[in-house]
Amino acid sequence: MADDKATILIQMDVDPQPSVFDAVVAVDAKVDHLFRHGDVTPENVQDLVYGALFTRGPSDLRRTALFVGGSDVAKAEAVLAKVRSTFFGPFRVSVLFDANGSNTTAAAAVLAATSSLGGSLAGAKAAVLAATGPVGQRVARLLGRGGATVAVGSRDLARAGKLAERLGEATGAAYTPFSNADPATTRAALEGATLVVAAGAGGVQLLPAATWRALSALRVVVDLNAVPPSGVEGVEAGDQGVDRDGVKAWGALGVGGLKMKIHKRAVRALFESNDRVLDAEEVLELGRDLVG
Ligand SMILES: NC(=O)c1ccc[n+]([C@@H]2O[C@H](COP(=O)([O-])OP(=O)(O)OC[C@H]3O[C@@H](n4cnc5c(N)ncnc54)[C@H](OP(=O)(O)O)[C@@H]3O)[C@@H](O)[C@H]2O)c1
Repeated sequence: MADDKATILIQMDVDPQPSVFDAVVAVDAKVDHLFRHGDVTPENVQDLVYGALFTRGPSDLRRTALFVGGSDVAKAEAVLAKVRSTFFGPFRVSVLFDANGSNTTAAAAVLAATSSLGGSLAGAKAAVLAATGPVGQRVARLLGRGGATVAVGSRDLARAGKLAERLGEATGAAYTPFSNADPATTRAALEGATLVVAAGAGGVQLLPAATWRALSALRVVVDLNAVPPSGVEGVEAGDQGVDRDGVKAWGALGVGGLKMKIHKRAVRALFESNDRVLDAEEVLELGRDLVG
């Protein structure tokens, strides 16, 4: 009986010390056994994957799963690619990718914004400030896939341009780059936006209150930075769709509550079959089920 086997989550973290945060979420998601590995690289991950694949029979493999994480999202993506290429035939287990919380945070931000836009992104004009980080890139990708037109910002216009090109090719949606290097260029780029997401590094304020309050089309603003000062002046970290001057505001902690629920749901989903790879889009779908 496949269900007799205990569930095992193998945490593969690119940092020397595997994330305690991710371990706690795994326990709260009721994983029976958690194996924690740090300093995981594309070079040493294959033997860890073989250990997961060759111990249980094919019908029990859905009771074993992998979590790929760590603070360096690019390194973790390389580990995920190696994990996927190690699988063959029925020898595979489900994997959740959430390095630095990037997928669960992006999914929660997009779902929060969608709910405040009335349940649909179709026709939304979105702008993502500091879209070049792991969270911002995923937010922009999910918004575009959801039917929004998306402007992607960076202090470096060329960097934003490369990102816009890459996201456009990946999703088929329309992306335009802009510079968020100073208030004037940011203000000009945000004209007409119905949704603004600030995805800048912690403790960096990207948008003055006067700028977003002057945007007549703006309906929703999301700030993902939890470290003071807020990324969007006038938005509080705990805001959960709070009405601020006619605009629905979400702060980092407000989004964080949904992020935690999505993370736990995604861990549980790993044990429903042995062939799922939960990246940004799949994590968003799990979150959508949660919020109804
Ligand atoms: N609520 C949650 O649960 C949760 C979970 C994970 C992350 N977060 C938050 O989400 C935000 C984005 O995370 P991330 O990992 O994607 O961030 P990140 O990689 O550290 O930074 C995102 C972007 O911010 C810009 N930036 C960096 N330093 C800056 C500065 N001094 N001035 C202006 N812009 C600067 C950079 O863009 P350019 O160089 O292109 O300008 C960078 O690509 C962070 O605030 C993080 O703390 C929240």
